[in-house]
Amino acid sequence: MAVHGCFVLRRRCLAGIALRLLFLLPAGAPAQSGDSSFSKPMDNVTVRQGDNAVLKCITDTKVSRVAWLNRTTILFAGQEKWSLDPRVVLLNDTPVTEYSIRIRNVDVHDEGPYVCSILTNRKPKSSRVHLIVQVPARIVNISKDMTVNEGSNVKLVCLATGRPEPSITWRRRLMRGNKFLSEGEYIDITAITKEQSGIYECTSSNDISTPDMRTVHITVNYPPSILSARATGATRGQQGALQCEASAIPGAEFQWYREGRRILSGLNGAKIENMGKKSRLVFFNVSEEHYGNYTCVATNVMGNTNATQTLPSRLCHGILSCLWIYI
Ligand SMILES: *[C@@H]1O[C@H](CO)[C@@H](O)[C@H](O)[C@H]1NC(C)=O
Ligand SMILES: *[C@@H]1O[C@H](CO)[C@@H](O)[C@H](O)[C@H]1NC(C)=O
Ligand SMILES: *[C@@H]1O[C@H](CO)[C@@H](O)[C@H](O)[C@H]1NC(C)=O
Ligand SMILES: *[C@@H]1O[C@H](CO)[C@@H](O)[C@H](O)[C@H]1NC(C)=O
Ligand SMILES: *[C@@H]1O[C@H](CO)[C@@H](O)[C@H](O)[C@H]1NC(C)=O
Ligand SMILES: *[C@@H]1O[C@H](CO)[C@@H](O)[C@H](O)[C@H]1NC(C)=O
Repeated sequence: MAVHGCFVLRRRCLAGIALRLLFLLPAGAPAQSGDSSFSKPMDNVTVRQGDNAVLKCITDTKVSRVAWLNRTTILFAGQEKWSLDPRVVLLNDTPVTEYSIRIRNVDVHDEGPYVCSILTNRKPKSSRVHLIVQVPARIVNISKDMTVNEGSNVKLVCLATGRPEPSITWRRRLMRGNKFLSEGEYIDITAITKEQSGIYECTSSNDISTPDMRTVHITVNYPPSILSARATGATRGQQGALQCEASAIPGAEFQWYREGRRILSGLNGAKIENMGKKSRLVFFNVSEEHYGNYTCVATNVMGNTNATQTLPSRLCHGILSCLWIYI
């Protein structure tokens, strides 16, 4: 029977045979789970990945026939080391009744049952400890920063590892604090608006260490809209200007028209100055020939819009010095 079993479960069986040879254990009393010889319920030893684990085995009296097993592999038999793993050592500075081992730099594959097998009065006893390896939560993959067009659907992903399984939370960064969005690896944003552009934050945590956090920056492209269009200082004989301000992503490019004709910078005493969201049409010396309707056109890849202003504005008529006119 035993021999037949050995063909089926070779590794387990080899360890069993080895133990029996070592201790002259009676057949049928292997140190395996389900064994009635367990003195007490399994203890758990929980350590963090990279830390050291001490697995304790206390005997009632000094015994020489003791062994430590990792699953079914013998690590130590008495004082003799069977394991080739340099991280595993037998603790020496312990009472004679203690037979404990230390595993340095524990990794996830070390997790599992370890058995201390004791032979006293030809009666085998074993105590099992379950080594649990914890790994801090860590984000391993997250969507890259992206630029999308207004109205498109966006899917963000944040993948994390850790033991126990970390939880994942998505938040959006706002001027004041963060807004919770959802739990889980994925977040779907349907028909994104320009107000939804900004920084999205993924947090992964499992209480083993401080949560891991990473961000995705979403840029939303949208067509220009004119924020303001106004004339400043349109008095004859002085400098005057028309100004147009547009909100757009990517930033708008401006063109100026007078009654349908494009105005080019540097001609007819006019100059176009562009600064970020604003464009100014400057007249160095306003004269009556400049009076008329002007249109600024703001354009980007998403579209264009325009606004028309009159120079001089009606409010300015007859007033000698009018510096700020809003139309
Ligand atoms: C050991 O941990 C398991 C879960 O991994 C748990 O079910 C069991 O109750 C723990 N045993 C002890 C003795 O703490
Ligand atoms: C325990 O056994 C597992 C599976 O064979 C192995 O990967 C791991 O390195 C072993 N750990 C120790 C400390 O022996
Ligand atoms: C990260 O996730 C993306 C999308 O799921 C996938 O295409 C990519 O291969 C992943 N990268 C890594 C390093 O896992
Ligand atoms: C502005 O133009 C008028 C006539 O067009 C001219 O008389 C005046 O000298 C100019 N002023 C300046 C500051 O160039
Ligand atoms: C400017 O536009 C207004 C309204 O569209 C119009 O009444 C006015 O005649 C225009 N002025 C010029 C100089 O074309
Ligand atoms: C200004 O916008 C109107 C309406 O969108 C459009 O019909 C017109 O052609 C535009 N004008 C210019 C100069 O782009």
